[in-house]
Amino acid sequence: MKKFSILVAGGGSTYTPGIVLMLLDNLDKFPIRQIKFYDNDKERQDIVANACEILIKERNPEIDFLATTNPEEAFTDVDFVMAHIRAGKYAMRELDEKIPLKHGVVGQETCGPGGIAYGMRSIGPMIELIDYMEKYSPNAWMLNYSNPAAIVAEATRRLRPNSKILNICDMPIGIERHMATILGLKSRKDMTIKYYGLNHFGWWTSVTDKEGKDLMPKLKEHIAQHGYNVNLQMYQHNDASWNDTFMKAKDIYAIDPTTLPNTYLKYYLYPDYVVEHSDINYSRANMVMDGREKFVFGECKKIAEAGTSEGCELHIDEHASYIVDLARALAYNTKERMLLIVENNGAIENFDKTAMVEIPCLVGCEGPEPLTVGTIPQFQKGLMEQQVSVEKLVVEAWIEGSYTKLWQAMTISKTVPSAKVAKEILDDLIEANNEFWPELN
Ligand code: NAD
Ligand code: G6P
Ligand code: MN
Repeated sequence: MKKFSILVAGGGSTYTPGIVLMLLDNLDKFPIRQIKFYDNDKERQDIVANACEILIKERNPEIDFLATTNPEEAFTDVDFVMAHIRAGKYAMRELDEKIPLKHGVVGQETCGPGGIAYGMRSIGPMIELIDYMEKYSPNAWMLNYSNPAAIVAEATRRLRPNSKILNICDMPIGIERHMATILGLKSRKDMTIKYYGLNHFGWWTSVTDKEGKDLMPKLKEHIAQHGYNVNLQMYQHNDASWNDTFMKAKDIYAIDPTTLPNTYLKYYLYPDYVVEHSDINYSRANMVMDGREKFVFGECKKIAEAGTSEGCELHIDEHASYIVDLARALAYNTKERMLLIVENNGAIENFDKTAMVEIPCLVGCEGPEPLTVGTIPQFQKGLMEQQVSVEKLVVEAWIEGSYTKLWQAMTISKTVPSAKVAKEILDDLIEANNEFWPELN
């Protein structure tokens, strides 16, 4: 059986140790001969790499390990690039959240002005990663979950249309785990689902068991009262802020009780609620830096100092096993049905053919085969047309260096009340992102 060579791009990510542990736990399904890390911040990556080197040695000493900031070393002899970079790191996430909030607008990592700012930072670095992969390992696939995935997907569609990049998000997977728990099922894989939308902007239209029995009525009954909140011990999506998000799904559901919503719709449908419940002095980025980053980096440092992982509290990110499912689908032609962000190309009949949509696909060795969705209702279509226009205008603004297009993108976003407020936020974001954005004229 072929053993694969994996590159984690964004080696210094807080998710890296959980993913490495998950890969080590799945070697029977997905054999690995080499794991490499690549990051453009050596110091940050080393904290994670020094610990992961020990974890790998202890669990499977036959796997070669290398952490590097040299693109040639990193991208040579690789089968899969698992990409989760954060252009601008948490320092810029904090500004993406706090600048819009200063103007009374939603401040969020991937939604609204914050997501637009993050998109403008991410396009260049993501194209750079693709170009390294194509130069040094032209047969490799990039499994990308770097955000904002919607804008990254549109940018790569425009700028590198033939590249072997697949964009995937863990939010539907996380929500489906909640659904499975609500239904008393062991695994989300006991359900078959239909879903459509944009990334962080979609709806389930069907959930059945493997025999085809409709499970929507039971889910609806729960969601109408408790949103997706359920007693589920998970390591991700598992703090007070996420509980609030899962609960708010109740109100998102109320406006269209024929479907089940992605939790991210709260930023577009209840922006007033979100702003009221945000603290400009302590936003999500602060919670993540004080929570996940401190914990993961603290544990990594302990392992490196002790020279052993004994007693360490790092846990397998079982949640991330969808990445192995995707890699296996490509490597072994499993035709697993997965939600991916792909070009619409007629799958949603009454929607822009060139839009990057999140829909079920069968994944095999030639990549994803999107499944037909058909015609979608006016409510969803209207919302999606508005949001996809934001995403497309951001990419056009980046390509053309156009201030006007970025202002238009900001203005169209449902989270922003007027062109005036859009311009004020944009001007603040331009100043803050001076190091990262192309010059706009
Ligand atoms: P993080 O800041 O801890 O890690 C990101 C790493 O990327 C850092 O070590 C940073 O130095 C590195 N980096 C930044 N720019 C780079 C570049 N140009 N080249 C190489 N490395 C670069 O962030 P995190 O919270 O662990 O999240 C990582 C990414 O994963 C983010 O983009 C986040 O939004 C995304 N994410 C996506 C999903 C999804 O559903 N698609 C789920 C979870 C996280
Ligand atoms: C979900 C989304 C990701 C996003 C993450 C943020 O998993 O699918 O795209 O990056 O949430 O979580 P955080 O804990 O960093 O706020
Ligand atoms: Mn996501």
